[in-house]
This record gives sequence, structure tokens and C-alpha cells, in this order.
Amino acid sequence: MTSTVSFQHVPESAYRPSRRHFLKRFAGSMAAVGLLPSLGLAGLEARAAAFAPGAVADEAFWRLVKDQFPLRPGLILMNAANLCPSPYPVSDAVFHFTHDVDADASFQNRGKFNDLHEAALAALARYMGADADEVVITRNTSEGNNLVIAGLDLKAGDEVVLWDQNHPSNNVAWDVRAQRYGFTVKRVATPGNPQSADDLIAPFAEALTTNTRVLSFSHISNVSGVALPAKALCTMARQRGIFTLIDGAQTFGVHQVDLHDIGCDFYTGSAHKWFLGPKEGGLLYVRRERVGDLWPSVVSVGWEQASRQGARKFGTLGQRDDAMLAGVGKTVDFLETIGNARIEARVRALAAALKTGIREHIPQAQFHTPLTPELSGGVVIFGIPGVDLRAAFPALYSTYHLGCAVMGSDEPFIRFCPHIYNTMDEVERVMEVMKGLA
Ligand SMILES: Cc1ncc(COP(=O)(O)O)c(C=O)c1O
Repeated sequence: MTSTVSFQHVPESAYRPSRRHFLKRFAGSMAAVGLLPSLGLAGLEARAAAFAPGAVADEAFWRLVKDQFPLRPGLILMNAANLCPSPYPVSDAVFHFTHDVDADASFQNRGKFNDLHEAALAALARYMGADADEVVITRNTSEGNNLVIAGLDLKAGDEVVLWDQNHPSNNVAWDVRAQRYGFTVKRVATPGNPQSADDLIAPFAEALTTNTRVLSFSHISNVSGVALPAKALCTMARQRGIFTLIDGAQTFGVHQVDLHDIGCDFYTGSAHKWFLGPKEGGLLYVRRERVGDLWPSVVSVGWEQASRQGARKFGTLGQRDDAMLAGVGKTVDFLETIGNARIEARVRALAAALKTGIREHIPQAQFHTPLTPELSGGVVIFGIPGVDLRAAFPALYSTYHLGCAVMGSDEPFIRFCPHIYNTMDEVERVMEVMKGLA
């Protein structure tokens, strides 16, 4: 491919934060560490109440939300598919709990973490449309996927159907298991430019056979941004007695997900992505009826009791990071303060603004992500023919302070994943920089 990586005509205002902007951000971080009056969760809740439930809210509100995050001034971080910052109310809580354990690691002092862990499970279940005995806090999506893959009884003659866009932890991990137990792994490709949910359902419908035992797919692909019609796929699988695993790494915490309504058997996610929670935390959901179909991969202290408590059976993982577990509950508090519907609407609005801007300013850009909201979410992926985006990637960060991802080798493409800590002003600045590339 031709390599044209010079940036042209990028106005300085696009990437050099103004003094006003810097002072404002500085004030925000000082407020958060307690040197200035902080808005706090109650303040945020009061501001959120001014908007209709689920309405996107205005830019002033989102600037307040942004100030809840310790983001480096000037940085435009749009990398939520990979890793997200936690807001101060979460990172402060994790910091506080960590100190508490380090100050006094006695059984007596740590007893309170049992309640905090229970509260976190209850909050997670509430947020995800599940029951508290159907969820367990893991380390991440990779672990959740592997707990399911390793825990199901599969044998020669059985078939597992995967989306070919699945992440390695829900893809290669099946191959490794299949080598040991002799079952078959089948991969399904979906059209590159889907026009409707039916375009995405049809290839899966064709692939399922009477031998299929499991259908496993990413809710939203991290390599294309395509959102699969999860409920329709799960309904189709259930009618044929097929178990479903949804890898929710790209929807957990950001989309309104009602697990009972979707009807999947297993769902996994990472707290450190869109959920904005503590690092190395994750969710595994196991539908109540499926608990008996899944073997635990790790058995440790507490097994006797946990084995009778639904999905807790998959949570005897030895000594845990109590601060992380408690922090998951604090994260749900934060998300609920803003409102799940509002968070999804905002992320969709930012993604739509990015798509519109790219189409307008870089007409030759080729989208891997559908433009329709029904078939996509917060992941926006595109390439620019003739432009070596991999060569441009270092300068996007070092000169223009954009945190995003580059993928692919022959025809590299860029992935922008905006979140609630981004502003529409940042979307415009991203456009200025990308225009300079095209
Ligand atoms: C769809 C999907 N599944 C799983 C993962 C793995 O997440 P983690 O590394 O937090 O386990 C990712 C990470 O990007 C992902 O995009």
C-alpha cells in the first residue's frame, strides 16, 4: 500500500489545550482530590435529574462528568474497547479499601468485605437484569470465557459454532479445548457490510446442526464494531437446545443489557473496560438453569457453601483483592447516578458524531463498522485507502494526544471508542487531526 503519513493543516487548537481548558481540567482534578469543593455523586445526581430519564443531557453536564475522571489534561482518550479510567468515586474507594486492608489484615477487620462483596454482586445483578446468585466477579472477560469453555461437558461428535470475529479468549480457547476432548469447532463469517439484523442471523442459522451444543459470539466485535442481534440468536439457539455464550466485553457497563430478556446462558465482561470499574475485575453470568451444566475450574476455600449457591460455585478462586470486589459495587453506584440509558445514549451520540465527521471530511474512508445504530455501538472502525495508519499511529499520540487503537497489517485501520469522559469538542478535534491525514 502507498504510505502517505504526513499530517497537513492540523490547526494547533486541535491538539494543544488552551490555558482556559487546562485551568478548568486542573480545577476538576483538584476538586476531586478534595482541594476544591467537589461536585460529588450527589451533585452529579442532582444535575442528572434535570434531564428526562434516558435523555442524552447537554454538553455542560458531560463536562461535569468528564471532571470526575483523572484524565491527563489535553489527552483525548478514545480507547474504551481496550481499557478505561475509573472515575474518582471508584478509584478513591479502591484506594481507600486497599489501605484499609494494608493497615489491618486481620480476619476481624476484613470481615466487612463479605458484606461489600455481597453488595457488589447484588448491584451487578440489578444493573445487568440478572439475579444475585447468577453472577460472580472474575478477573476479566478472558477468564469468564475460559471458565465456560473449560467447564462444559463436550465430547467427540459435538459441535461448537463461533463467530469468526470472536476474541482469542472465545476463539483459540475453544480450539485448545477441542484438541483435548475431540469436539468440532465451526466458524461463521458474517457479511462485511450488513444491512439488517437478518443479514447477521442467516449465516448462524445455516451453520447450526443437530450436533451443535454451543453457540458463542461477541455481543459487539472488537475488530469490526458490528453488533450481533444477541436476543434473536439466543432465541434461535434455545429453540434447538443449544447453549449460548455471549462475550460482552464491548457491551458490559455501556449498553443497557437485560440478561434475562436476552435469554443467553452465559455472559462475560471486563470491569476495566466500558464499565469504568477497577482493573482486573470481570463478570461471569450463569443462567440459573445452567449452573448444573458447568463444572467449576477452580475449587478452593468456601466450596461446600458456594456449591449450593448458584453461580457462587464458580467464585471460589482463593484469596481475592477485596478492594477490587468492593470497587465493583461502587462502580455500579456511579453508573446508576448517571443512568444506564443515558450512558448508552451518550456513547451512541459520540459514535454517531465521529461517523458523520469521518464521512463528511474523509469521504474515501472505508468503514468496517455499520453506520446504523441498530448494528453497532460505541466501537468505530475505519481505514483510509492509501494512508498507512499504522505508520501514523505514533504521531497520533505523541503530537496530537489521541489515545486510540490501530489494527490490521496490510490495510491498517483505526478504532475510536469514545466514552462518557469525551466531549463533542473532542470529537471535533479528532476530526481536525484525521482530516490532516487524509
Ligand atoms: C470481545 C473481547 N473479548 C474479550 C476481551 C478480553 O478482555 P480482557 O483482556 O479484559 O480479558 C476483549 C479485549 O479487548 C474483547 O474485545
